[in-house]
Amino acid sequence: MAHPSRNTRPTHGGNVAWAAQIANCSPHGLLDFSASVSPLGPPPSVLAAIQAGIAALSRYPNPTYGALRQALGAHHGIDPDWVVPGNGAAELLTWIGRDLAALDATALITPAFADYSRSLRAFGGRPHPCPLPLEQAIAGMVDWQAVLQHSLPLQRSPQAWGLLVNTPHNPTGLLIPADVIASWLDQFALVVVDEAFMDFLPPEQQQSVISLVADHSNLVVLRSLTKFYSLPGLRLGYAIAQPERLQRWQQWRDPWPVNTLAEIAAIAALQDSDYQQATWRWLPPARAALATGLQAIPGFLPCPSVANYLLVRCDGQGSAQSGDGISGPDLQHRLLVNHHILIRDCLSFPELRDRYFRIAVRTPEENGRLLVALREVMGWRGVRVEGCEGDGVMG
Ligand SMILES: Cc1ncc(COP(=O)(O)O)c(C=O)c1O
Repeated sequence: MAHPSRNTRPTHGGNVAWAAQIANCSPHGLLDFSASVSPLGPPPSVLAAIQAGIAALSRYPNPTYGALRQALGAHHGIDPDWVVPGNGAAELLTWIGRDLAALDATALITPAFADYSRSLRAFGGRPHPCPLPLEQAIAGMVDWQAVLQHSLPLQRSPQAWGLLVNTPHNPTGLLIPADVIASWLDQFALVVVDEAFMDFLPPEQQQSVISLVADHSNLVVLRSLTKFYSLPGLRLGYAIAQPERLQRWQQWRDPWPVNTLAEIAAIAALQDSDYQQATWRWLPPARAALATGLQAIPGFLPCPSVANYLLVRCDGQGSAQSGDGISGPDLQHRLLVNHHILIRDCLSFPELRDRYFRIAVRTPEENGRLLVALREVMGWRGVRVEGCEGDGVMG
């Protein structure tokens, strides 16, 4: 089957303009599972706050972002001076990359979010891959200490190395326990923990390391409002670290990196506990039903994710029915052309090659539609998928 050449493929999910050309439909006609963004849509309270705040566009934002830092500090129970908002977490990754590039090398658990390499290389930094054993990941049994131990050079100086990790990890959705991350703090000059998806866990299940920042000047925690509040177009993320580091970054940035409406929207989002509760009610059963439906398709092995997305091995290897597999790009192409559904192929995670795909967890109805389409593509019929409302019996 002919596919668009690899260099035209998007590096990130959510590129519906690219996908619509292949599907031969309008971007609005696509059901997008490729971007790991909440399907609940932006909170109505945020949209109302943006509308009410439109008049503020005629003024520059306050360059200290005092009100927003106050709200973020209150949300996490920390001093507002220890928080800095950014134009998405991606903008803050750039300044993190500049700090990390001053070190000999930066350990990355791979597969890793593509933007880590971008930010490191922008300043001549040196990424050092620490491969995640994929069999362990699919089984949900990763020995995180061993992942680093097996890949770091024995002779390296802890004072000259950085570590950039992501928990829950993208693309596997696995959680790195906070005590494991804590044990890495004295082994690296700088430890950056990207918690862009942590909000999706109910508070009592989160494994955030924000509380460790007070005692560790070498720790930076990164957060994003993009995924949880369904606001990818707004661009709002933030970093938590000791104030000296954040003040240094301020000297490198443009004076108003966060726009006025993003500041207003973020303050409203953080206060919306009804929306937060609705997310925690929706996700666990929707994800469990989707995973069950995927497991029932011969050749598919989903990773046991705690986040709002599932990584699925699809080449048929390692499953009871080996030989029933398909490549991720092939599956993506068929779903686009035949069903106007966009999934994420994993070619931009080089370690995963064409053997995996990643999907966001969406509403039960949308997840049911995806399962019907997947089963049709895989040419298989007849199993009832509990909890996926679609049309009940799939196929
Ligand atoms: C792990 C991870 N960190 C950070 C980001 C960037 O988030 P933002 O939209 O806030 O720039 C993403 C976006 O996909 C991500 O997957």
